[in-house]
Amino acid sequence: MLEVEDLQLAFGGVRAVDGLTFRVGQGEIVSVIGPNGAGKTSAFNCVTGFYRPTGGRITLNGSDVTGRRPSLIAARGISRTFQNLRVFDEMSVLDNVRAGTHLWLRQRVLDALLHTPRYRRSEQEGTQEAHKWLDFVGLRGDRAGLVRNLPYGERRRVEIARALARRPSLLLLDEPAAGLNHSEKAELLELIRRIRELGIAIALIEHDMGLVMQVSDRVVVLNFGKEIADGTPGEVRGDPAVIEAYLGRDADESEVETARKEVSGA
Ligand SMILES: Nc1ncnc2c1ncn2[C@@H]1O[C@H](COP(=O)(O)OP(=O)(O)OP(=O)(O)O)[C@@H](O)[C@H]1O
Ligand SMILES: [Mg+2]
Repeated sequence: MLEVEDLQLAFGGVRAVDGLTFRVGQGEIVSVIGPNGAGKTSAFNCVTGFYRPTGGRITLNGSDVTGRRPSLIAARGISRTFQNLRVFDEMSVLDNVRAGTHLWLRQRVLDALLHTPRYRRSEQEGTQEAHKWLDFVGLRGDRAGLVRNLPYGERRRVEIARALARRPSLLLLDEPAAGLNHSEKAELLELIRRIRELGIAIALIEHDMGLVMQVSDRVVVLNFGKEIADGTPGEVRGDPAVIEAYLGRDADESEVETARKEVSGA
């Protein structure tokens, strides 16, 4: 479904991404991990068209989308959430998720201006769909209330519901567990699995190794923009290069042991 080949992205002299290759098949969960500044978010920004790569190729269902606009890539079935949560704080919970449905509702401006029956029907369809996704992510509270009044963990779920309301075939999640407490993380794990059961593929950036190791089919490891490992959770977890990347070269035995535990999600 998604193929990323030798992706390169430079900001002036900084090679944020320097030769990343991975693929995500239908219904697969692939995680991209690596230390802070490794280039994970930059890679997602290339895949979603927010940044234009300086090299390499991004193919989506067989067609080359390298350097295409975000709107085109979204329309082709990639939807995302952001590391720094992006929801419309001053809009209601329901309207935030309804905004996702506008990608496929195809409303005409004239219908909207004149409030035609056709427009009202499509608005109803969008509303129903938004409720469906809010149910799906488990948000049961007041949906007419402003998003800004929700606790952080629930705002994260609104963002995921909005991304799902776009009806993606591939969902990119950038650190969805950041800032969540233990029980919220367990719920997120279960939510990610239910999303996959719908046949939606997931690419996941995440620092929480417990989550990564439990949920991923494959894990790609980046360090300073370079891909240093790619394999199953079991393969990656024991890889000395991965442990070193999380640690630096001059670690002693006990630090290595701690890092090994961290990478294995223990
Ligand atoms: N818009 C930008 N302009 C210049 N440099 C950037 C820009 N975005 C990212 N970088 C640089 O690219 C490198 C990779 O950053 P990126 O945000 O992709 O890392 P990351 O792996 O997502 O890190 P984190 O885990 O902290 O989110 C860093 O050196 C960063 O400073
Ligand atoms: Mg990032």
